[in-house]
Amino acid sequence: MKYLLHGVKIWQAFLDEKRPLEQVCAHYFSRTPTLGKQARQEITEALFSLCRQVQLFIYRLEEGGLMSAEIYRYLPLLQAGERADFSPFPEFVQRGVQRFYTLPQPSKIPVWAQANCPKAWWPFFKKSYGDKAGPLVKQMMETHPLAHGFCYGEQSPAALCKEVPELFSPLPGTRRGVVLKNSSGVGSLEKYGIILQDKGAQLLAEAFAPGPKEKVLDFCSGKGGKAIAAHGLREIGSEIHATEFDPLRFSYLKSRLKELELTETISTHSFEDILKQEAVYDKVLIDVPCSGSGTWGRHPDLPLRQGVEVLKGLMKTQQHILSQAWSLVKPGGLLLYGTCSLLEVENQGQIKTFLGKHPEAVFEDEDLMTPLACESQGFYLAKLRK
Ligand SMILES: C[S@@+](CC[C@H](N)C(=O)[O-])C[C@H]1O[C@@H](n2cnc3c(N)ncnc32)[C@H](O)[C@@H]1O
Repeated sequence: MKYLLHGVKIWQAFLDEKRPLEQVCAHYFSRTPTLGKQARQEITEALFSLCRQVQLFIYRLEEGGLMSAEIYRYLPLLQAGERADFSPFPEFVQRGVQRFYTLPQPSKIPVWAQANCPKAWWPFFKKSYGDKAGPLVKQMMETHPLAHGFCYGEQSPAALCKEVPELFSPLPGTRRGVVLKNSSGVGSLEKYGIILQDKGAQLLAEAFAPGPKEKVLDFCSGKGGKAIAAHGLREIGSEIHATEFDPLRFSYLKSRLKELELTETISTHSFEDILKQEAVYDKVLIDVPCSGSGTWGRHPDLPLRQGVEVLKGLMKTQQHILSQAWSLVKPGGLLLYGTCSLLEVENQGQIKTFLGKHPEAVFEDEDLMTPLACESQGFYLAKLRK
């Protein structure tokens, strides 16, 4: 990397702050105006690429007895290659890096390191996928999933793809999805009546979309992705309602719906008001907070700033949301449980626990999308009938 010193500084800030790498880069660049566009792009790409191979470095450092918190803070140097100029860096770092390059190649690299899976997360993938865990995580960490969009307005996806074939092509297996062929050249997606939405998320929205005269609730609306997509799929006489637990996100949701001119078809309610309601909804979607392990392909920095210890709290919240939302589903209605995780403990395991506590709930079906099976990030959806 030509801009090694900058790369190391950003990497260290990323390790300290545990914020998304993209944000840390943006913050650093805003304070370093001398770096041009090309340099910024090169540094960002190199750091993301480091995230995609870092476990192998860590494994080799540990095997060679070189691993220390200090070396970890200088990992971009390993990526730079042995002929890079390390002179601006402290002596002990230079020595550590030179020694790294003289280490013998291990005769057998463990599967987690080959797949670039953080060691602590590996048992969860192994338990979920057995022998397929290695190829699955490897594929996920190596590839950047395609950018997908969803036509939420009146625009027909087929017509749009015909109109601007250089920008969009139909997204197979979805009702209103498109592949963004050149995401940087698209500009404002809204002018095409499109929101950015991965294929897995679109399938969640398709299951959630209300049929004729149905009343549905998006219980974890966040930025409103699923509710907005459901708008593009709704049937006559239906109602879409949305709420959000986090007040800041809720106010963002309301302003986004206003901007997109969707406030007439999507009604928003405060979280407190929703919890006071009776079981009146034909469908309730809970796109629950999760580890996001299905999104590592797009966000290879995520497993580096989030340890497995988050799982315990998340799983508790997921069960809590399942119970709260269940009480809002009317008899005969559907509860849709969705995550962007690939882990059994957050998906099938949570549904099993819930069914154990609610014998009246009927498991209808489930869908697990993995990056091995399709060009999408990982998603899980389960349908429970009341
Ligand atoms: C995965 S995000 C939802 C994304 C959203 N459906 C979208 O398409 O943009 C999960 C959401 O659940 C919310 N949440 C967190 N804790 C919650 C809780 N205890 N009850 C309900 N929602 C919660 C978060 O604020 C977050 O917006």
